[in-house]
Amino acid sequence: MSESLASQIQNLPKVELHSHLEGCIPPGLVRTIAKRNGITLKEGLFTKDDTFAWNDFVEFLQAYDEASFCLRKAQDYRDIMYTYMEQCAAEGTIYAETFISPDHAAAVGMSYDDMLSGCVQGIDDAQRDFGIVGRLIVSCVRHLGPEQAVVVAQQLVDNSHPYIVGFGMGGNESMFTQADFAPAFNIAAAAGFACTTHAGEVLGPESVWDAIDNLPVTRIGHGVRSVEDPALITELAKRGIALEVCPGSNIALSVYPNLASHPLNKILEAGISTSLNSDDAPFFATTVGSEYQSGANDFGLDLEQLRNISRMAMQASFADAHTKARLLAVIG
Ligand code: ADE
Ligand code: ZN
Repeated sequence: MSESLASQIQNLPKVELHSHLEGCIPPGLVRTIAKRNGITLKEGLFTKDDTFAWNDFVEFLQAYDEASFCLRKAQDYRDIMYTYMEQCAAEGTIYAETFISPDHAAAVGMSYDDMLSGCVQGIDDAQRDFGIVGRLIVSCVRHLGPEQAVVVAQQLVDNSHPYIVGFGMGGNESMFTQADFAPAFNIAAAAGFACTTHAGEVLGPESVWDAIDNLPVTRIGHGVRSVEDPALITELAKRGIALEVCPGSNIALSVYPNLASHPLNKILEAGISTSLNSDDAPFFATTVGSEYQSGANDFGLDLEQLRNISRMAMQASFADAHTKARLLAVIG
């Protein structure tokens, strides 16, 4: 009997390029870490069904900040990284790039070094136990402004580590322009870091144009609203700029009302390099594995198309050439 499509997808090697470490902490782990650190969590952080409580994009960002408030020690970062990587590996993920935010660590008095050493330990432990390869993208927070972004970019450059492969930006896309952050991105790019920025998620195609015209980016986080401008779609394909697509996140945050109206297939048909990602798994009731399953169930993709998404993701990853070649061979 032939293996069912669901189990073939389960066994397909997967690549995740877009997840935020602070957004990867399940409610139970938030409580465990808060308890051992003697932290009282904000009232109303969780729903009665034990999910994170939020209703819109700004409330989501606030809940995300509140969850990360429990993190105080390198061990905490190690544990969330390890737990996230364990979950990814259980779903067939062979490589994951995760955004880490030094601003969130600093907000609770943690040093960059402690944050980084915890993440590195989590990656090493997960690779030893599950074989998964992890890398990090240092991310600035858009709503904290361009000057703070320069501070973060400089920290990145001054504290290099082989697992840190890029620089990125998340946060509230409605504040500032992408171009305002060119000084920060240029510092990272000049030091050899590959760059990505969230654009075309909350705002439309103009935000993606702003990013690709003014920042040294080779990838865009989300970028899904690029489909509203045919010239932009052509430009992304021509320049080989990859989109980190997160359908479950887009539905949870009401970028689209349902998966039937999500433009994943339009993006693939336009020949744009595309990956499938969870973004902030426990906040959006998703995982990278369920995004691949949804690729088949909701978007009609077959196993070879999903394998090609893994290939495109690995090519677009910020990993070194040797790691890329080795993992591309695993994907087949
Ligand atoms: N930070 C974490 N998740 C994010 C998202 N989906 N958009 C912008 N910033 C984020
Ligand atoms: Zn994101």
